[in-house]
Amino acid sequence: MAASMENIFVREFERKNGSSLNISQCSTGDVGCVVWDAALVLMCYLEMPDFHNSAGESSMKEKIILELGSGTGAVGIQAACLGGNVTITDLKEFLPLMDLNIKNNAENITGTVVAKELKWGEDISSFKSPVDILLLADCIYYEESLEPLVQTIEDLSGPETMVLCCYEERTTGNKPMLQKKFFQLINKAFTTEEIPQEKQDPHYRSEDIHIIKFTKR
Ligand SMILES: C[S@@+](CC[C@H](N)C(=O)[O-])C[C@H]1O[C@@H](n2cnc3c(N)ncnc32)[C@H](O)[C@@H]1O
Repeated sequence: MAASMENIFVREFERKNGSSLNISQCSTGDVGCVVWDAALVLMCYLEMPDFHNSAGESSMKEKIILELGSGTGAVGIQAACLGGNVTITDLKEFLPLMDLNIKNNAENITGTVVAKELKWGEDISSFKSPVDILLLADCIYYEESLEPLVQTIEDLSGPETMVLCCYEERTTGNKPMLQKKFFQLINKAFTTEEIPQEKQDPHYRSEDIHIIKFTKR
């Protein structure tokens, strides 16, 4: 079951300008039904000075932004609230939840945001690419879709694309192996740079959550 739209509970996220995002989550369903800690860390990082231009505005403004494996859509909706023109994507089953969250946060969205189906590894010709910014939170999770995920990141990126991949470092099961393999594949086509903790939100950062910036070679 992907997302049961009957068991909704709302989580409120305070933004730095004092407004709030209200993100609906589902108490039953697949992992994408809730906002993960990596998503929170990435949402907060998007408001930090790394994304302020010389006029003090968000550098997200008018950028073409796409989020992969959005789940609830929280990260991409935050980017749209910062003025980005955003497409949030996930498996088809998540479209109702993402659409609900877009609708419920419309008053804070200063850019644009639409939800679309995008299964990793599939054709991306219906998406505008390369994008300016590609966002991923906690997507290094599935053995069967690791290579398709890397393929989609490559397909949507050009040399000017900033890929921001935020993930929680997990130490159990096959997760360490998956993370290692993911970065081995990514390093073939991208240079990578970790965002230091001190550049992240002082309240929403953690030693075991990493934000890595990729740039296509
Ligand atoms: C751990 S959840 C993270 C959700 C959200 N990014 C967050 O951090 O709150 C991983 C997401 O990847 C999506 N996903 C898994 N396999 C996928 C695939 N093959 N193609 C597209 N999305 C996929 C899931 O549906 C889920 O929403």
